[in-house]
Amino acid sequence: MNTGGLSLDQAPPLGVPLRFFVTAPLFLALAALLLLVRGPEVFASRWTPAALAVTHLITIGFLAQIMIGALLQLLPVLVGAKVPAVSGFAAMVHSALTIGAVMLAGGFLSGQAGALALGAGFLGLGFLAFIAAAGAALWRVPGARHTAWAMRLALAALLVTAVLGGVLVWAMTGELRLAGFQRWVDVHLAWGLAGWGGLLLIGVASELAPMFYMTQRYPAALRGWLAPAGFALLALWSLLGVFDARASAAVGFLLGALFLLFVGVLQWLLARRKRPVKDATLFFVGFANLTLALGVLAWLAGASGIWIGLFLLAGTALAFPMGMLYKIVPFLCWFHLQGIQLRSELFDRPLPWMKGFISEAQARWQFASFIAAWLALALAVPWPEPFARIGGGLLLLSALFFLANLLGAVRRFRREAAWFERQGAAQSVDG
Ligand code: HEM
Repeated sequence: MNTGGLSLDQAPPLGVPLRFFVTAPLFLALAALLLLVRGPEVFASRWTPAALAVTHLITIGFLAQIMIGALLQLLPVLVGAKVPAVSGFAAMVHSALTIGAVMLAGGFLSGQAGALALGAGFLGLGFLAFIAAAGAALWRVPGARHTAWAMRLALAALLVTAVLGGVLVWAMTGELRLAGFQRWVDVHLAWGLAGWGGLLLIGVASELAPMFYMTQRYPAALRGWLAPAGFALLALWSLLGVFDARASAAVGFLLGALFLLFVGVLQWLLARRKRPVKDATLFFVGFANLTLALGVLAWLAGASGIWIGLFLLAGTALAFPMGMLYKIVPFLCWFHLQGIQLRSELFDRPLPWMKGFISEAQARWQFASFIAAWLALALAVPWPEPFARIGGGLLLLSALFFLANLLGAVRRFRREAAWFERQGAAQSVDG
């Protein structure tokens, strides 16, 4: 792994990103359980309570948790943006998002206005606190680094998503009359998926691909304008949608084309990487790119929300973070262990290498279970019974498998760290 571009001495404690990373699979397991129990309802319409609950258990409970954990790790080491008192801050954001996502999903399922409002309140608190702290840290970053700009724009998109989400809940509780409700839902989900998700993916993938896979750098010309152009097109698409549907569709086409270009170039760079070693993380990234392209094409072709959800929510939004965590978590465990070794000056003990934390076989088996789940969910679109439940069961298995792999790495880290502690203690007694 090429870590030349990182200021690792700025890294936050391991617990900061990890708390988000190990919570995410639990939310995926919850979404899978819901598919197992109420799967056919999820595939009946995008507007059913179960479909809305599964959507937010995945977008907030799984995806946003991992994105925020990764940002709290990457902000200081990648762009030098430090969040003050990061451990306490992370604990607060993590609790607010965890309680909020459970309450919001519960509110959708039960139809209880109180649960919806409480969920939106906790989520608003967690997201707005994160946006304020990360935004302030990024504001202090000097110069015009592309990645910093992509992160700033992704945060702005998250702000739009969260505020619109709150307004939609307000309307659903009957306290606010909102004309064009469905249109606002589409604007909300576009800022959530294309803005928050898509712009951060553009910003981070162009840095991580050379780092993790020794690819050439993402073409500077593209790296400089992809995220700002994506943000501008999304804003234009949102505004035009109110006044002129045809112009909005044309801008929507350009937005779709932008993401197809991004995916095409990323896959092209990966195919020409210096060390053509095939590992499970590349399978996840390849599948994420494929489903992102299919999702964009389905949206441009006017396909149903269920097909778009299958590609973007059950495909890209799960596969990309899984692939990235199989690189990030072993690296962080190794990096923090190395720090402990340096401080203890006990250099005789060799440190486990990345695959010593999560083996290639573990990652590949989990990928296989994930693909089996996805294929069953794809069959559920035309045949919700029995494939929605089968897909839910396989996704539950895959989510727990993913959790076990991450916890295995943490256990290995703790075991090694405990050894250094014991040796250190023994040394000071001898000393
Ligand atoms: C503050 C946090 C959020 C709140 C309060 C919230 C609330 C809502 C509400 C009330 C709806 C409309 C439900 C209906 O149509 O009856 C909705 C739809 C949706 N939201 Fe959110 N949301 C939030 C965050 C997010 C995020 C971060 C994402 C994506 C990254 C997201 C993705 C979606 C999607 C995809 C839909 C459309 C579901 C469908 O039509 O099937 N939401 N949200």
